Amino acid sequence: MAVLVTGGAGYIGSHTAVALHDAGHEVVIVDNFANSSPAAVDAVRALTTEDLAFVEADLLDDDAVRRVFEQHEITGVVHFAAHKAVAESVSEPSRYYRNNVGSLLGVLDAMLEHGVDRLVHSSSCTVYGQPEVLPVSESAPVRAASPYGRTKLVSEQIISDVCAVRPLAAVMLRYFNPVGAHGSGTLGEDPNGIPNNLVPLVMQVAGGSRGKLPVFGDDYDTADGSGVRDYVHVVDLADAHVAALEVLAGGHEGATAVNVGTGSGTSVLELIEAARRVTGKAIPYEVVERRPGDVAKTWAAVDLAHDFLGWRAKRGIEEMMRDHWRWHCENPGGYRR
Ligand code: UFG
Repeated sequence: MAVLVTGGAGYIGSHTAVALHDAGHEVVIVDNFANSSPAAVDAVRALTTEDLAFVEADLLDDDAVRRVFEQHEITGVVHFAAHKAVAESVSEPSRYYRNNVGSLLGVLDAMLEHGVDRLVHSSSCTVYGQPEVLPVSESAPVRAASPYGRTKLVSEQIISDVCAVRPLAAVMLRYFNPVGAHGSGTLGEDPNGIPNNLVPLVMQVAGGSRGKLPVFGDDYDTADGSGVRDYVHVVDLADAHVAALEVLAGGHEGATAVNVGTGSGTSVLELIEAARRVTGKAIPYEVVERRPGDVAKTWAAVDLAHDFLGWRAKRGIEEMMRDHWRWHCENPGGYRR
């Protein structure tokens, strides 16, 4: 009896594989290393068990997906595998739809064929765009500003439609901004090429491998003018998946979207200050133009996560910075040693 983790070599997937193992689940990882490394699977095995099952497969390959379900006794699926770069999705929308929606459909078909009725799906706060009311709750209107965001919206709709008519129940976790790393320092975020996201860039500047951090705008309608996000520690986020699977095992029906954040916002300038305190390094920055497509501010309403999943984020921004910094210092080249 195992939990299938698609995209389990990725940033959130790898931490979730460890959390599931720690909670007593057997884990099968599937990944095609499109944006991850075999060394991440080695790192997960080192923290869990050398026997942890891994299958290298593309989820668009229906036969390969079917084989995974035939060869392992899967009781539930945590589906991460997806492309996730907003700018890339704007220039290559069809590739994003094909991959993100196609892989979900393949997983759903295989689940239904094999009588697997529990799905935890990786969604994003990007489905809200700029919320009108903060903190943003799950009942707020959805509108995504990029093809990437729309793949997440469409995926939620597909899952809801399938859950309405077939024996399938799902929790769709809308992640806010995951940062941090496993406390061991052996598992973390390893973006290909130049990172898009703030915290990996902050760490590179603190570590001296990048000169200056561009701050995308200081004239937003926020306390200090810089963008505000709800950063959530990746280990807390991983635990939310374990909690979601438990809720599904308890017989929950239908498809439910749940925010996963801390419930409070941190500005870019506040985050730089926290990173400076934790690392003891100067983090030079330069305010530049706003980044197209960015929202000014967003943070999560977390009542549903608490009431429905029994989950709450435990780690604050300093712990996020400390753990991300440890990972960065111990693995300056990421998994490519
Ligand atoms: N930022 C900078 N400088 C940088 C990078 C980011 O100032 O070099 C700022 C952004 O403007 C934003 C904040 O840091 O205010 C966070 O930016 P990230 O790129 O780390 O995260 P986003 O909130 O933009 O992105 C997240 C997810 C995406 C998702 C997107 C939807 O990482 O997957 O929200 O808006 F699609």
